[in-house]
Amino acid sequence: MTCRVTFIPDNLTVEADKHESLVTLAARGDIFLRGACGGAGTCGRCRVLLVSGSVVVRGEGDVHSPVEVLACRACPVTDVVIEIPDSARLGSHRVLIEEHGRGKLDEAPVSSKVALAPLYESVELTMTAPTLDDARDDWSRLQAELRKKAPGMNPLMTLGFARDLPQAARKGNWRVAVDLAHAGPFTELAGISTAGVSSPRFGLAVDLGTTTVACQLVNLSDGKTAASSGTYNRQAAFGDDVISRIIYATEEPGGLARLRHEAVATVNSLIEEMVKEAGVGYGDIRAVYVAGNPIMTHLFLGVDPAYLRLEPYVPAVNSWSPVQAGELGVRVHPRAWIHCAPGVASYLGGDITAGLVVAGLPETDELTLFVDIGTNGEMVLGNRDWLVGCACSAGPSFEGSGITNGMRAVDGAIEMVGISSGGYEVFWRTIGAVPPRGICGTGLIDALATLREAGVIDRGGRFVAGLDTPRLRTGLEGREFVLAWGSESGYGRDIVLSEADLNNLMRAKAAVFAGIRVMLNAVGLDASDIQRVLIAGGFGRYLNLAQAVAVGILPDLPVDRYSFLGNTSLKGARLALLSREVRDKVEEVAYSLTYLDLSTGTSFMDEFMLALFIPHTDMGLFPSVVGQGGD
Ligand code: FES
Repeated sequence: MTCRVTFIPDNLTVEADKHESLVTLAARGDIFLRGACGGAGTCGRCRVLLVSGSVVVRGEGDVHSPVEVLACRACPVTDVVIEIPDSARLGSHRVLIEEHGRGKLDEAPVSSKVALAPLYESVELTMTAPTLDDARDDWSRLQAELRKKAPGMNPLMTLGFARDLPQAARKGNWRVAVDLAHAGPFTELAGISTAGVSSPRFGLAVDLGTTTVACQLVNLSDGKTAASSGTYNRQAAFGDDVISRIIYATEEPGGLARLRHEAVATVNSLIEEMVKEAGVGYGDIRAVYVAGNPIMTHLFLGVDPAYLRLEPYVPAVNSWSPVQAGELGVRVHPRAWIHCAPGVASYLGGDITAGLVVAGLPETDELTLFVDIGTNGEMVLGNRDWLVGCACSAGPSFEGSGITNGMRAVDGAIEMVGISSGGYEVFWRTIGAVPPRGICGTGLIDALATLREAGVIDRGGRFVAGLDTPRLRTGLEGREFVLAWGSESGYGRDIVLSEADLNNLMRAKAAVFAGIRVMLNAVGLDASDIQRVLIAGGFGRYLNLAQAVAVGILPDLPVDRYSFLGNTSLKGARLALLSREVRDKVEEVAYSLTYLDLSTGTSFMDEFMLALFIPHTDMGLFPSVVGQGGD
């Protein structure tokens, strides 16, 4: 038996099975709720109002309207009306789809001018006609021509191809077009037709992120992008970060299947949008390339990720074989091969290997630092001769989670903060220039730097005692600083930064910088030896570089050594769809990169402790910051 759940003010009604949580039901209608704790009921972010009807709340039993409930714990038992406040929403869809960041992406050696050798292509061949003197079978004749065209190819003939071969060859007077689907070590002969009759061929590039998923539909004949789209990963209803997803997958009955289903559903929703926009058929999409972190890749493929978080932290697979779309339920041609970019280790995955190729690290002579900061911080140092990499848990604060009024970088998020000396006056700028609803990662870094500069916090990231400003007060969870009063916010309540928030931020920034230091120490180099710093992903989109250096996240280097690359994972996936050279390079990077496991030994923890100051215990590492903040 089903009930009807109506969400307001959206006025959206969905049919519900009684065991489905309000978070899941809202996601079905493309309303994404915040869910930092993955349904454990501890973060309170998913609080909604039950306006009418009854729900059953896990651990509490039936509750009746009107009452506030945690959407992650509540399932409808009657028809219900649920009001979703802004504070419980993930915000409008704004996903970093565009490949270009700020600055100098096009200086990266791998540009869009790579030679076209797509994962699915059509080649035209002229077979020799059989005679009484040459009575070889059709297949042998075709193979001989294929070998001339593509030496070294390992063709795999399917039964369907064999059935079509004799007619197609004779109909075209031995001139044929053969569709080739490259699938790792072999090439499937996916179709044969008369030469000159070409059918549309598209590929799908996927950046499978923990928080967001971005896709591009690419014409494989000319490399042009036909459509792009991005949205939240529907798995977000089951936890904000990769660890809570692993726990859900391994500890909840049916959890792994559920997460796999949600990842595929997210991709399918984007495909639906793009095929409509581009006027392309689902069956015209003949190849898929996915770049994702190891946990997302395991979950997308339905492979148990349990051992990624258990010592000694090993993935089931780093280098994936392609699988056919029909097996996964991805809504493209059912026989299209889905390729996943290879990972390196448990927390360094295909999004990074693909991104490194786009960033040109395997080809540069310059010592380059590549940084991708999200919930995890992934960092790689090196050049054409060597690459070392590591990953640290930065916590979700840079993505606006795990912070009292944190939010993602969407409209209403404070992205810039200015504070007068002593903290009396505060001004801010929001994304979309609308009243503030919260603060995003880049706003948090800005706030940390400006609070320090104004002398409101000390070098350890704690509020200074004795400041005479009403903005510094004691809240329910200890001391807090009011960034925006309720009368100014688009949320009705004060937007604050608490001492616990500061602590989370300090730990996040220390983890990233410590990771960079561990890599430098491992190769016996100093930060000053780094010739280029490439920042990938959404983190760099609004980042104030000077502030990121001032708080000690990034090395104190001249600004012109920094570049912001945008979504390198998506660009890597797109180029891999189109270029054999790029695919080979991604494999090569995954194979040759030396991974430093930060959980072994003490060097990371030692560096982490040193970095728990603004900007660092060793001020000599931050010469341009010396003297800021009053000591
Ligand atoms: Fe619902 Fe945390 S309380 S997701």
